[in-house]
Amino acid sequence: MDIFDAIKTRRSIRKYLDKPIETEKLQAILEAVRMAPSWANFQCWRLVVVKEKDIKAKISGLSYVESFFAPLGYKSNPSMKALAEAPVVIVLCADPEKSGKLWNQQYYLVDAGIAAGNLMLAARGLGLGSVFVGVFDEDKLKKLLNIPDAIRIVGLFPLGYPAEEPKAGPSRKPVSDFCSFEQWGAK
Ligand SMILES: Cc1cc2nc3c(=O)[nH]c(=O)nc-3n(C[C@H](O)[C@H](O)[C@H](O)COP(=O)(O)O)c2cc1C
Repeated sequence: MDIFDAIKTRRSIRKYLDKPIETEKLQAILEAVRMAPSWANFQCWRLVVVKEKDIKAKISGLSYVESFFAPLGYKSNPSMKALAEAPVVIVLCADPEKSGKLWNQQYYLVDAGIAAGNLMLAARGLGLGSVFVGVFDEDKLKKLLNIPDAIRIVGLFPLGYPAEEPKAGPSRKPVSDFCSFEQWGAK
């Protein structure tokens, strides 16, 4: 698939077929993460690939953080079922010490964000779906997966063959709303 087609047609997928992911496809997605640019090429991302059903169920349970969702009127994370049902869940972590910290900017989040973009676009290009799940109980998840204290968990990515085909994406602002030329605000 052409890169622009992948960008235009990628959507968050929250329903998956009960069908395993071929090893080569999973490997290709991990390779896409591997090739992402990063601060000084330090490659601060660390991934945990989870396939075990009971661990995925526990991860799913940790994606509902009441203090975040309850005030919004949510009784679950919209991706809670996806985390339990997708054949694979990728836990994207980063080591902040292996990235830049400059003038109050934490570049490990940028590095991990670019890796996440590669992951989701590669999945789309291979006919798979994913969704960035950014709300979870980090401390409990670290304990569950034996992730060291110094590492941050940045996102969870259910991965699998889509069982839904979301149509037109949620609306996006026109380019003119967020882009100016030569000077801030100039159209
Ligand atoms: C940093 C980040 C965190 C997100 N966290 C969640 C989440 O916890 N649960 C969820 O269902 N979707 C989550 N999403 C998915 C967004 O809701 C989704 O990308 C957005 O609504 C646009 O829809 P699209 O991906 O289909 O284009 C997250 C996306 C990003 C980039």
